[in-house]
Amino acid sequence: MPRVDPAREAPQPQTISRDLIDRGRERYGVFCTPCHGQDGRGGGMIVARGFPPAGDLTAEPLRRAPAAEIYGVIGNGRRAMFGMAQMIPSADRWAIVAYVRALQLSQDAVVAGLPPDDRARLEATR
Ligand code: HEC
Repeated sequence: MPRVDPAREAPQPQTISRDLIDRGRERYGVFCTPCHGQDGRGGGMIVARGFPPAGDLTAEPLRRAPAAEIYGVIGNGRRAMFGMAQMIPSADRWAIVAYVRALQLSQDAVVAGLPPDDRARLEATR
């Protein structure tokens, strides 16, 4: 395990790379899916077992919220959600924010608007 000082804040990434989103997706799966669900809508396993309903990460107010606010919630928590600054290094928190943005955008993507390659891949999964 690499030793990272969780208290050290990484700057917000200026560009969103494929690698950043992939890292975010992987970390989201570990830390967020249990409550917020794979699609971000809040129906995770822990919630199904009685934890207070987790927020819908794809809802309008969070789409409008600045990235720094979502980053802050991951580190500091909000209402029933505990902060995870001690568990998730700062750079990974930013990667998760990038992935949450991707989830938000994916909710109302129009299939017809996808590039042909992506569209073919999506249709192959049905
Ligand atoms: C143990 C369950 C749990 C885990 C794990 C968890 N959350 Fe939450 N989350 C909640 C709950 C509960 C709330 C508060 C919902 C409310 O009161 O509206 C919340 C709220 C939020 C909010 C604010 C929603 C709003 O509308 O104000 C964001 C953003 C968020 N979580 C992101 C994340 C991310 C990203 C992760 C993973 C790093 C994560 N959460 C992990 C349970 C969890």
